[in-house]
Amino acid sequence: PTLRQLAARHDLAFGTAVAMAALADDAEYRTWVAAQFDTVTAENEMKWAALEPARGRYEWGPADALVAFAEAHGQRVRGHTLVWHNQNPAWLADVPRDELGAVLKDHVQTTVRRFRGRIWQWDVVNEVFEDDGTLRDTVWLRALGPGYIADAFRWAHEADPDALLFYNDYEVEEVNAKSDGMYDLVRELVRQDVPIHGVGVQGHLTADHAPLTMRENLGRFDALGLRTAVTEADVRMPLPADPVKLQAQANVYRTALDACLRTPGCLSFTVWGYTDRYSWVPGWFEGDGAATILDEDFAPKPAHRALRDGL
Ligand code: XIL
Repeated sequence: PTLRQLAARHDLAFGTAVAMAALADDAEYRTWVAAQFDTVTAENEMKWAALEPARGRYEWGPADALVAFAEAHGQRVRGHTLVWHNQNPAWLADVPRDELGAVLKDHVQTTVRRFRGRIWQWDVVNEVFEDDGTLRDTVWLRALGPGYIADAFRWAHEADPDALLFYNDYEVEEVNAKSDGMYDLVRELVRQDVPIHGVGVQGHLTADHAPLTMRENLGRFDALGLRTAVTEADVRMPLPADPVKLQAQANVYRTALDACLRTPGCLSFTVWGYTDRYSWVPGWFEGDGAATILDEDFAPKPAHRALRDGL
């Protein structure tokens, strides 16, 4: 059985981020995506810089191609991401401050409307917290104040009432100061009837630490009546990989999967790439790599076996 078939027994969707260049050029990569996964996330192509490189000029091509691929293979799409402080277009820097609210609303609604009815889950707001649980100082917070977060969910909901709307962040897998901040925020949004439906924990983890409080953490969001999802799982290690590190990595993946499986509202478990051939990790974390479940030649690693065993 494939990963998606195994996950279906638990009513869980098993997903991957997709590198569009690899999808176009690498037949082996494409075959795996089509066969093994229920959901796909564009690794970069639905980010603002990619969608609207010049103000008012949208480039939908790559995002459309991914949505079409998904539909051709019976997959659902996680839309990623609408409001963020990274990978925004350069022209934003020239927008006068008093226009930023209107520009953000236009971006959110134009994008969500474009894919209306075809996106299962949208990451509406991404990564607004500092490690200590306070709000990160971003262009949006400075110009609009904290209310932009609730507004973004309202704008997105208006544009596609059927999409599940998520808040998404990293290092919030476990109970800690940052996830406490996230908990306070989303509880307040729920209390105010803001259309937020889920919380995504990215799951960029390290092989030297199993997220033992992840189940408890997902549970408290579940108890608020929210869906949860693991949205970007990968488990990095200092290179070179060796059998001990690979086994530790497998254990971390398994701990994260189990936390999701034991949380009734955890809808999907998405890996941020499934082969070391195309992982973002070596380019971003100096000296680290080998973070995915297949090696560079698509050979399954212990982590792949551990996830299959867990499903
Ligand atoms: C990463 C992509 O994988 C890279 O290709 C890109 O250069 C930078 O962004 N959190 C997120 C993702 O929400 O969008 C990021 O993706 C990884 C961290």
